[in-house]
Amino acid sequence: MTTTASAPTNPSAAHGHGGTPRPARARAGKALKGFVRVPGDKSVSHRALIFGALAIGETRISGLLEGEDVLNTAKACAALGAQVERLGEGEWRVEGVGVGGLATPAEPLDFGNSGTGARLMMGMVAGNPIIATFDGDASLRRRPMRRILDPLERMGVQVVESAEGGRLPVTLKGPRDLVPITYETPVASAQIKSAVLLAGLGAPGETTVIEKEASRDHTERMLAHFGAEVTVEPYGSHGRRVTLRGRPELKPAPIRVPADPSSAAFPLVAALIVPGSDVVVEGMMMNPLRVGLLTTLREMGAEIDVLEERIEGGETVADLRVRHSALRGVDVPAERAPSMIDEYPVLAVAAGFARGTTRMRGLSELRVKESDRLAAVADGLGANGVAYAIEGDDLVVEGRGEVTGGGIVATHMDHRIAMSFLVMGLASASPVTIDDISFVATSFPAFVPLMRGLGAEIEESPAA
Ligand code: S3P
Repeated sequence: MTTTASAPTNPSAAHGHGGTPRPARARAGKALKGFVRVPGDKSVSHRALIFGALAIGETRISGLLEGEDVLNTAKACAALGAQVERLGEGEWRVEGVGVGGLATPAEPLDFGNSGTGARLMMGMVAGNPIIATFDGDASLRRRPMRRILDPLERMGVQVVESAEGGRLPVTLKGPRDLVPITYETPVASAQIKSAVLLAGLGAPGETTVIEKEASRDHTERMLAHFGAEVTVEPYGSHGRRVTLRGRPELKPAPIRVPADPSSAAFPLVAALIVPGSDVVVEGMMMNPLRVGLLTTLREMGAEIDVLEERIEGGETVADLRVRHSALRGVDVPAERAPSMIDEYPVLAVAAGFARGTTRMRGLSELRVKESDRLAAVADGLGANGVAYAIEGDDLVVEGRGEVTGGGIVATHMDHRIAMSFLVMGLASASPVTIDDISFVATSFPAFVPLMRGLGAEIEESPAA
């Protein structure tokens, strides 16, 4: 039965950081030069902690992203009974309790701004006969959770309580025996796929997820890395069928987290649009399901050299050398969206500096991210003199080779909107101001010092 939860239980719900918004401003200055390493991949970091908590024994993680989203997942894993310990910068150890070994947490689990943390961990707890409440900040409380609750209910999970439409706060009760299912995801979403697979760990027999468009596959890779029996087959022209044998004993396995391509996107695009720039981004994960932005930027004429491709911790990584380039508008096909879903805001910025029309197709999922990113990007473009149109689920940007800037951008508690428009300001004729930089801490706490290290002029709390 689903009932509506009463008053907020979460102190961070009103504003993720409990404080006043902190504006920031970026302005054009000198060329960007140098070598940078962006933080560890957010998707891999969440999963490293979750799988560590589900294995029996000690998992060592290096290069973990220490952003707020991932730290909330670490706290939630600890609240469910795992031992989670920070040993040094990016170095963590997790002493897991095994599949089915999670304990009822004493308090609601607070995932802050993180849809990935909340959704994956709903799947993680499903196979345990415990009760847990999931909550988050105002942004996360607005995001759809029915897409996770639907398959979990089919597997036998009880939704004890939820806010309207299945939104957070949500209280789940895991059954004694979970039912394995075959589930076709209604949208390409690694979060839905992962929630069902994580739940499937606790079910006897085979759990299968079918997706028409392949989404990022870090969960499948990590399942295999921890010794689970998982098979992945092609499905249709762009899809996959993933089958997991339930109730495995997961064995601890060391994890080295590669640099996050979604964070690398910011210095990459900045170097492309700031005249004279020459930047190397080191150790970026080149997982084929994450590099749609690279393909698109190259089609736009970006000069990006892939150097030193190598395998690190089971993923291909490379150093990317990127130089200021004359960009042209392109047509980005809808089927590329899953492999660059978080990169559209910064691609839209690049499109503003390109010459000609860029059409980004099939962006409906952008409406349900940390903010309605389609609307937030469009407003930010408009505020800075870039012509655009939203046509159905497509975003069309008319690039003029230069951007006026001078606007104030509403970030709507969304880290990627904040970073994208600061990047715009590094090359626009007038500076770009964002209303709040605080949410950058969710995925890229060192964004400002890293960009300043390349020569960027970003001012925090500028005078109005
Ligand atoms: C993620 C999947 C994507 C992405 C998010 C991280 C993941 O969401 O937007 O930032 O780690 O599984 P969807 O799978 O819902 O598209």
